[in-house]
This record gives sequence, C-alpha cells and structure tokens, in this order.
Amino acid sequence: MQVHETIAGLRAALKSAGPGKRVALVPTMGNLHDGHIALMTQARGHADTVVATIFVNRLQFRPGEDFDSYPRTFQADCGKLEAAGVDHLFAPTEAEMYPRPQGYHVVPPAEQDGILEGEFRPGHFRGVATVVMKLFQIVGPDVALFGKKDYQQLMVIRNMVADLNLPIEIVGGETVRAGDGLALSSRNGYLSAEERAEAPHLNRAITKVVAAIRAGNADFAGLERDAVAELTAAGWRPDYIAIRKKTDLQLPPAHESGLVVLAAARLGSTRLIDNLEV
Ligand code: PAF
Repeated sequence: MQVHETIAGLRAALKSAGPGKRVALVPTMGNLHDGHIALMTQARGHADTVVATIFVNRLQFRPGEDFDSYPRTFQADCGKLEAAGVDHLFAPTEAEMYPRPQGYHVVPPAEQDGILEGEFRPGHFRGVATVVMKLFQIVGPDVALFGKKDYQQLMVIRNMVADLNLPIEIVGGETVRAGDGLALSSRNGYLSAEERAEAPHLNRAITKVVAAIRAGNADFAGLERDAVAELTAAGWRPDYIAIRKKTDLQLPPAHESGLVVLAAARLGSTRLIDNLEV
C-alpha cells in the first residue's frame, strides 16, 4: 500500500496507474474497525484501485464535541488497510486539506440538514458534505463507499452527488455489529466496562420497534415514545428514536412501507447512534 500525505502525491500515483482503471474511494476518520474493513473489501469488488482516506475533519465537529479526543491510531490503521489489500492511503495533514480557512462550503438543504443528527449537531452535515466533496475532487473516484450506520450521512451524500451531477456511484455498506448487537463505532472505545455492557440496549430498543411495525403496529409516535422511555429508565439520555421514510428520512404517513428506525442517545458522556431498516 502506498501512503500519501499530499494531494499532488496521490494524484500522481493514481495517474501513473494508467487510464481506464476504475477507482473506489472509502473515506474514513481512522481508528478503523471491522465495519471500515468490510467497506474496503466491498470496494475491491467495485474497482481496480482502492483508495482509503484517513482525515479527522475538524469542520464536521461542533465546539465542545470530541475533535481533540477523537482516537487517532494511524500505525494500527495502516496495518489493517494493508491486510485488507487497499492500494493507496491518503492521510493528509490539516494544512494540506485546509491551507486557509475553508471559504466555500457544500450546504445540504434544511430538510436534510435540520433533522435528526442535523438538529442535534447543527453544521455537522455541512462539514461532512464539504470534506467529502473535497475528497471527491482530490481522488476522482468512480465509486465511493459509506457505511449505513451513518444513515443520514449516506442520504446527504447521495443527494449531493445527484444534485451536483457528480459522476460517482455511491454504495452503502451494511452495519457491522459486535456479537451482542452493538454497532461497531470508533466511539465505542469511550465506553466504560459497565457502559459497554449496557450499550447493546440501544440496538435491542430499535429492534423491538422494528418488530412492532412488522407486526402491524402503525402508532409510530407511540412506539418512539415507548423506546425513549425504556432507554431513559435504563439510564440513557436519548436525543431521538425516529421512524422515518428510508428514501428521504421525512416523517412517514401511516402504513407507509420502506421505513427505517433511527436512534441517537447518550450513555454517560458517549453519544451512540444506530438504525435498522424495517
Ligand atoms: O463517516 C465518517 O467517518 C466521516 O463523516 C467521513 C465520511 C469520513 C467524512 O469526514
């Protein structure tokens, strides 16, 4: 695997691979787990050349969030990417990505940005869309892969690509879970042993909602309320449990099919998210 810190170095390496090669991009913020590695493996099935990126993007963190403490495990990440057969790793410094304060931004429309994660993390998706657009311009991929665990992020990126006519196929990767159901996440490392034992409750709570919908319960507000109450009683501070349309994450009419249940909740000082398609 070739490791590049500069945009010029990465572009030169991709150019020397020759024309006609299909390039897949898997953007990450590092601290790689099996969910990321599954995306790398999936990427190989879509392209001749697989490019991973590691960049902890300050723009998508709000003041007071975990930008400074976000786990940075570069050496271990390189070993995992190498073992996964990734061809190029682009790991720029902040000065390489943002040599001056970023003036132009990609701003998702309010109906995508102002709900769910966007409501609780204002500006988050503007930061994500902007850095992903920059990575698209730098790498020039034919296909890019993102995990479904960040379901709203995947929707925002799909819509950005469609609205801005970017010639890039967007592929979603299934959420990878620990044996007890907890969705793998770099932030799981923040959990104490006691919190880690409680953490799968988030997945159990939304699994219950999915089962109720499948059994014909269309009282979506009631189901959301019950799940919030259950988690709160167990010591969580839920931001939302939301039953939404898969396509645009808007509120569904009763008896709508094609739903997804999304959740975000704090356990101690750690904020976890999860979702399940119905
Ligand atoms: O999902 C992530 O890790 C980040 O939001 C991404 C897509 C790499 C952009 O910084």
